[in-house]
Amino acid sequence: MIKTSVADCGYKELTEKAKEAMENAYCPYSGYRVGAAVMTSDGDIYTGCNIENGSYGASNCAERTAVFKAVSEGKRKITAVAICTDEGGETPFPCGICRQVLSEFCAPDAKVIICDGKNNCYSSELAELLPYSFQFNKI
Ligand code: THU
Repeated sequence: MIKTSVADCGYKELTEKAKEAMENAYCPYSGYRVGAAVMTSDGDIYTGCNIENGSYGASNCAERTAVFKAVSEGKRKITAVAICTDEGGETPFPCGICRQVLSEFCAPDAKVIICDGKNNCYSSELAELLPYSFQFNKI
């Protein structure tokens, strides 16, 4: 994991789109706003936010919202992911479920940019975040 900045991470536009998507976060229970953006192999960008539910387990993270939007539009190859949170917020490292979902549609060297609300930005790759990921043998 490399410490970088929005300007220098190589995915400035993707990161800015993730931040914009955060504005739509629905998080009345945690108050923790997250935005995500995924870039697909054709260069298109799909964004998402976290969407919570009064039945907490039915909540969805920003990363999965963005991935599911891309896949539902027929895009199954994700090359980069950006995740952002609000001013002052703790670093939104993706949860285990999101890492597994990303591994279904990302190559191991897909870039993952993670920005907190304190001007810290980290650049990683999916394989670093989820080594030895489970892959079901597709028929
Ligand atoms: N959350 C995300 O959307 N992405 C992350 O990377 C970390 C956590 C959301 C889920 C929940 O709505 C809130 O943040 C608090 O866990």
